[in-house]
Amino acid sequence: MNLDKEMLPKHLAIIMDGNGRWAKQQGKPRIFGHEKGAKTVREIIQEVSEIGIPYLTLYAFSTENWKRPKLEVEALMHLLSRYLKKEVAIMQENNIRLNAIGDLESLPAKVRKELYKAMEQTQNNTSTTVSLALAYGGQQELLQMTQQLAQRVQQGLLIPQQITPELIQQTLYTQNIPPVDLLIRTSGECRISNFLLWQIAYAELYFTDILWPDFSPEELRKALANYQNRERRFGKTSEQL
Ligand code: IPE
Ligand code: IPE
Ligand code: MG
Repeated sequence: MNLDKEMLPKHLAIIMDGNGRWAKQQGKPRIFGHEKGAKTVREIIQEVSEIGIPYLTLYAFSTENWKRPKLEVEALMHLLSRYLKKEVAIMQENNIRLNAIGDLESLPAKVRKELYKAMEQTQNNTSTTVSLALAYGGQQELLQMTQQLAQRVQQGLLIPQQITPELIQQTLYTQNIPPVDLLIRTSGECRISNFLLWQIAYAELYFTDILWPDFSPEELRKALANYQNRERRFGKTSEQL
């Protein structure tokens, strides 16, 4: 599939959904789907950096996912720390920088340790910045931003008139990351599930029935080709563009 290098999204975000259903189809426990899903993550990160997209954000664990059965949450956390341990070398090889967004303090200490280590080791890499959304909720992110700004006002460091969209952006977890251009969700669900609420204001949305463990570099290219055929008007008329 031919992609126009000039028209790639700067920021691609993906809601990686469907691991559980994929495992069920195989008659296997849900965690089996998460393990296969982790392999897909590796392939997709590699493809995104080869294509030349500078920012990739992956929804890996939501605030709401804490409500899943304890055993599944534990298995996911275990998988995550194993993944991080193993993945740093591959990220280094591919010049990929790892970042994380979400309520990272709520993660188990072991996961946090691997996460910070991987982030530190890859901090000078310059191809794609991959942000893992972990214990992430869009509403929670907006809440912590509001509380931080309110506190600065209370301390007399800021007046309400100084609160601009740019300042709000700077106070989110995604501080220095541009807005989302393309949001992909796998597994056929057509909802946002509390992901990047501020950042997707003008994103193009792409939904596919493919379950995340089956999502391939070809499917990614298909989504990008579809994106390149859209007209992003940002409120203007076609003639104004
Ligand atoms: C996405 O797959 C992974 C996480 C939310 C952690 P699911 O586990 O939600 O899979 P389905 O939606 O049940 O198939
Ligand atoms: C969204 O998937 C969160 C992640 C992919 C990490 P869910 O499977 O948790 O979403 P809902 O609950 O079906 O909306
Ligand atoms: Mg799901």
